[in-house]
Amino acid sequence: MVTKVIALSKDNRAAALKEAGKIIKAGGLVAFPTETVYGLGGDALNPASAKKIYEAKGRPSDNPLIVHIAEMEALPSIVEEVTEEAKRLASLFWPGPLTMILKKSARVPYETTGGLDTVAVRMPVHDVALDFIEAAGGYVAAPSANRSGRPSPTTAAYVAEDMEGRIEMILDGGQATLGLESTIVDLTVEPPMLLRPGFVTMDMLSVALGEVGVDETLLRGDSGQAPKAPGMKYRHYAPKGELIIVRGKTEAVTACINERLREGRRINKKTGVITSEETLGYYDADARYSLGKKGSAKAAAERLYRILRECDDEGVELILSECPDGAGVGAAVMNRLLKAAGYHIIDV
Ligand code: TXA
Ligand code: MG
Repeated sequence: MVTKVIALSKDNRAAALKEAGKIIKAGGLVAFPTETVYGLGGDALNPASAKKIYEAKGRPSDNPLIVHIAEMEALPSIVEEVTEEAKRLASLFWPGPLTMILKKSARVPYETTGGLDTVAVRMPVHDVALDFIEAAGGYVAAPSANRSGRPSPTTAAYVAEDMEGRIEMILDGGQATLGLESTIVDLTVEPPMLLRPGFVTMDMLSVALGEVGVDETLLRGDSGQAPKAPGMKYRHYAPKGELIIVRGKTEAVTACINERLREGRRINKKTGVITSEETLGYYDADARYSLGKKGSAKAAAERLYRILRECDDEGVELILSECPDGAGVGAAVMNRLLKAAGYHIIDV
């Protein structure tokens, strides 16, 4: 299959979205930009499309997909009930980087939900995404547009690296500005439960909902439990090299990381560090990557997946990372970094 890559401009936008919509309606796949990461879209109401998505991603088919909608009117027919909590969250955070889990209606095929009786729904805040969903018939199932096990793509070029030849079309709408996937909250349990941290933070959810539980597996690899969001169990976001996080006071962290880098170099490993802007110069490594200013979780979120891909591209075999601040949006950064590191963290 030849994948058509279209760089969207004012002139070609309408025609391109129309063509993309036709592909989805005919059961094909189109990657498209959202504010979080690029999605790999198919018709959410067509069981055959879900199968194609799993194939293209190389993802197990027990991993449910998020159904993307473009307007509130689209919600009632795909869920059993639009609960008060769902209405409240939608009015506060939609369109935006929040996915809600609700009981599904018969209209949503089990192929899309990985066999579950619940469905994940999100309304993205990105004009290309919204217009594309409309053109595609209103219900687009879309996981992140990476091959399974790779970091989610934040640019169309990264989508092409993973999906060239596997899907009909890639809509290039520039860089995904947030850089990490949406927050997921399960509204089918009492109290509601955070399944994946993101830009809609725990604090924001608590203000809206009152008590909110947290899936214990988010921050620990050794909880012995299966994550509540099936997709979170896979070792996603992992770079090819070994990644270790070092946490503690700056001086101790710097000393520990430099020691590990020296050891790595002694056995001829290509080394890398992931640090704050301020401390980038403290380290002696083959490749150095900045997550942005200390304490800026937004900058870190925007850069993290690109950095992990660059580590792979540059063949870095041993990567030491400082531990970014985990408050607010930082919880999302920490969650993804921990998963990328296989929860390997050293306290100094
Ligand atoms: O920001 C995002 O959410 C991006 C963009 C494209 O919208 N999409 C995305 O999809 O990250 P994906 O497939 O990479 O992650 C979806 C996660 C998986 O961990 C999956 O297990 C979980 O959502 N999920 C989906 N439906 C679920 C359900 N019914 N119950 C529990 N978890 C669910
Ligand atoms: Mg994903």
